[in-house]
Amino acid sequence: MSENGSTQLFQPPVDFVKQATISGMGAYEALCAEARSDYTGYWARLAREHVTWKEPFTQVLDETNAPFFKWFADGKLNASYNCLDRNIEAGLGDKVAILSETDDGALRSVTYKQLLARVCQLANGLRARGIKKGDRVIIYMAMGIEGVVAMLACARIGAIHSVVFGGFSAQSVRDRINDAGAVAVLTTDEQCRGGKKLPLKPAVDEAIALGGCETVKTIVVFKRTGGECAMVPSRDVWWDDVVAGQPEQCDPEWVEAEHPLFLLYTSGSTGKPKGVQHSTAGYLLHAIVTTKWTFDLKPHDIFWCTADIGWITGHTYVTYGPLACGATQMVFEGVPTYPDAGRFWKMIETHKVSIFYTAPTAIRSLIKAADTTPAVAPTNYDLSSLRLLGTVGEPINPAAWLWYYNNVGGGHCPIVDTFWQTETGGHMITPLPGVTPMVPGSCTLPFPGIAATIVDETGTEVPPGKGGLFVVTKPWPSMIRTIWNDPERFKRSYYPDDFQGRYYLAGDGAVRDATTGYFTITGRIDDVLNVSGHRLGTMEVESALVSHPMVAEAAVVGRPDDLTGEAICAFVVLKGARPVGEAAAKTVKELQDHVAKAIGGIAKPKDIRFGENLPKTRSGKIMRRLLRALAKGETVAQDVSTLENPAILEQLRA
Ligand code: WTA
Repeated sequence: MSENGSTQLFQPPVDFVKQATISGMGAYEALCAEARSDYTGYWARLAREHVTWKEPFTQVLDETNAPFFKWFADGKLNASYNCLDRNIEAGLGDKVAILSETDDGALRSVTYKQLLARVCQLANGLRARGIKKGDRVIIYMAMGIEGVVAMLACARIGAIHSVVFGGFSAQSVRDRINDAGAVAVLTTDEQCRGGKKLPLKPAVDEAIALGGCETVKTIVVFKRTGGECAMVPSRDVWWDDVVAGQPEQCDPEWVEAEHPLFLLYTSGSTGKPKGVQHSTAGYLLHAIVTTKWTFDLKPHDIFWCTADIGWITGHTYVTYGPLACGATQMVFEGVPTYPDAGRFWKMIETHKVSIFYTAPTAIRSLIKAADTTPAVAPTNYDLSSLRLLGTVGEPINPAAWLWYYNNVGGGHCPIVDTFWQTETGGHMITPLPGVTPMVPGSCTLPFPGIAATIVDETGTEVPPGKGGLFVVTKPWPSMIRTIWNDPERFKRSYYPDDFQGRYYLAGDGAVRDATTGYFTITGRIDDVLNVSGHRLGTMEVESALVSHPMVAEAAVVGRPDDLTGEAICAFVVLKGARPVGEAAAKTVKELQDHVAKAIGGIAKPKDIRFGENLPKTRSGKIMRRLLRALAKGETVAQDVSTLENPAILEQLRA
């Protein structure tokens, strides 16, 4: 039974099963059995079949320096070669690689041949500016073809990209540049979302002005809108000038399998985001195999993953997975509600999208929109091209699942509810669409080859029906390799001493169903929030709040929200008097804007409540369980006798 009580089984449609790449439970079980009987042999077979190598590997898994595992370490390859050249060699040169729609509806497309030419020109231009293998390059760009070109151009020359979501603030950009020691930033003058122009290059300038970015020697600016944009002559250069006159061929840098393909910063339980480091070969392998099996990708598909390249979903299922599989995919700059909340459905209709992958938050907001404005309901559009739906990033509530299934999928498209993380590189627990009977709200079973289970705090497996910690019991090829600059934090976070290095600890709670063995994710077990499918650390938001001169102390918790999954609720003690009425409202707005400036708009607390102090134990520890209960509006019936200052609860209840 899933968390919200759904037990209804939805069988994969017979027609889907017939044509599926992995077809029927027998095929799934055979793959799992192969992995169980010869774990490294299984992954080695897949790596030989699905990845194109410059030099084949002879070693598979190297555990000598566990938990810093290595896969296929003596092999050499290039990720951009796998995404571009090999498709062209296979006759796909004139196939459309990317169909792009801008915020205002302008269409563009590139074939595999054109994409390779553009990647090579940029790669040559970056090389000409001295950027080389191992250098870190920040990409802070609008969603569009150029963002993908930027990632692949870095991969082409062995530079390590670190994409920063365009919604993050200048300060966040500064922190990432600084931690990565980036030598270059690739950016856009302005991005367009929901009819608004949002400056990106000016934010980079602001980031640099904050200091600590002395490593940056080059800033390449793609002109998207032609908006006002100051250029520093010795440092800043227009994208068009970088690529002008560059040859459309560029020899790939053949890198070792373990060469870092990218860093991607994500939130953890401490204040500082961590640079998750991924390898080239292992990561690419899982991107390819999951794209082929979870999405049952076929040559004629039009694939659309709505994620931004600033998130892991955009890395694996916009850039690397679909392109390495030779797919035609959609890339969209805008938001689902502009010009109206029928935008996604209109785009599916227009471009005949066959596989659609999005976040539960987007689905919930479109349900709400369709309820209030029936004209934008998906049933007004011809969605008959769809054959498969997917969700990612947060739990999907059964009601939203059913709406998606019936109103978008017309009751004939399987839904793959994919559970995974920035750190896992690709899908971990997910239905396979031609195999797995679906239960709304459950991500079902492990991807073939992934060894997952649920344990208690002592590391003992828990029986079905009993909740516990989600762990992975064997290293897998696309796993995080380390945290950039902080290997100790990597060990502490994912291979804590409590489990003697036996398990990868995901940081999520989960429970398995006694009959089906299906996993249901019950939410984070650490101080990480999931707001609209975006990961945020409570301490990150707290640090932002206390950096405001008026704030003495702050505690941040999550509370359930119908639309965004979780909402941020902050309890704040000011240095001055506790504000009430008009003054409180003004201060709330000021603090919200302050957090948006420090981290980004996605981190704005929805509620801010002021107290003269915070509920603490006699030893001075903030009692978060009380704050969580208060945030939810529950009556705090728990024992408050350990509380130093019980009177404060009344103040914070408001
Ligand atoms: C949550 C996004 C339930 C989970 C790919 C995880 C999910 C965190 C699901 C990772 C799902 C992701 N069902 N919860 N299908 N997918 N999560 O790193 O808490 O941005 O640990 O990666 O999102 O978020 P991240």
